[in-house]
Amino acid sequence: MAVRRLAAEQPESFAFTEKNLAWARKLIDRYPAGRQASAVIPLLWRAQEQNEGWVCEPAIRYIAEMLDMPHIRVLEVATFYTMFQLQPVGKKAHIQVCGTTPCQLRGSEDLIKICKSRIAKHMHEISEDGMFSWEEVECLGACVNAPMVQIFKDTYEDLTPDSFNKLIDDIAAGKEVTPGPQNGRRFSMAEGGQTSLTEIDDDTKGVLPVPHVVEGNEKASHAFAGASINGGGNDFDGVPTPAEDAVAKVKAAYAAKQSAPAVADTQKKVEKAAAKPSEPAPVSKAKPKAEPAADVAEKAPELLKEARGGKADDLKQLKGVGPKLEATLNELGFFHFDQVAAWTAEEVAWVDSRLKFKGRIERDGWIEQAKTLASGGETEFSKRVAKGNVPSSKNEG
Ligand code: FES
Repeated sequence: MAVRRLAAEQPESFAFTEKNLAWARKLIDRYPAGRQASAVIPLLWRAQEQNEGWVCEPAIRYIAEMLDMPHIRVLEVATFYTMFQLQPVGKKAHIQVCGTTPCQLRGSEDLIKICKSRIAKHMHEISEDGMFSWEEVECLGACVNAPMVQIFKDTYEDLTPDSFNKLIDDIAAGKEVTPGPQNGRRFSMAEGGQTSLTEIDDDTKGVLPVPHVVEGNEKASHAFAGASINGGGNDFDGVPTPAEDAVAKVKAAYAAKQSAPAVADTQKKVEKAAAKPSEPAPVSKAKPKAEPAADVAEKAPELLKEARGGKADDLKQLKGVGPKLEATLNELGFFHFDQVAAWTAEEVAWVDSRLKFKGRIERDGWIEQAKTLASGGETEFSKRVAKGNVPSSKNEG
């Protein structure tokens, strides 16, 4: 970490604009009397934004007086956190390259070489055109997407020399750039695609974990990273920050996913009742587990007393079938993929009503999988089972 000093040349004075002053007063009012110092980071950040990207010494004194703090305390904060720039920076971008071990092992030194050749030979020097500056900083908390850089509030991750050069080109050309991973992956997902949580969890009844229900918010990872800059993702101005916005979208998507089955169930019941107005209401002693699937008459498929040739197929190669469900299927009279592959809608309704989790057959696509497996093919899931990579498909003991 380089020594962080105030710039040699400083402006005469600093004062918040009227708008920022009103914002600052509102923010300070949120803290109990005597605790106004808690507002120091957001105030310094706002001062930096107002002052073309850097915190000047008069701003430090101005904020100290506003918060009734000794000047040295505010200076300590401003010089400790690398999010605060202590000298003028490039107008279009001040690039902070993480040089800590994970990023270094993944190529941050190449990024620094690019900064030296394209921007300025030394850290904190401004490029000849005045548009860029750079510095090396310590870990910025996105190590899993190393190497990465931060530019103002946003982080750009999974960089290579090529993508970093392109990022600089795009910023120089005034093009819109997208924060987050620059190699196409989502958030911190495995680069080759999802490798875990690929099965429907019985306990959640098909509601996938939160990260999987978020669609169309590729900026969320950078937004969460930016949250720290604003002091826990709150911009203190009543307008949702990208992080708050992302969290709200995640919550809404998750809530919608959870309530969907219940809504669909209610809808089906309403439709059924409307179709048969003269039918008496079902007696409360009805056994819900034995009810057929809605709107489809049940028909028993052809059942076997035992596996043909004494050798049953491994039904656990069907996604969603574990040892317990396989045993249930065997008890019902199903031992082979070709039996499952041949089920009609009525037969699915018959089987469905006898399984613990209704709708699983359709949801997991058993019939399509069974057709592939019955013809000697493989599915992605069956390959993983064959390799022993699906713990839930292993027989206990
Ligand atoms: S080491 Fe670079 S972000 Fe953590």
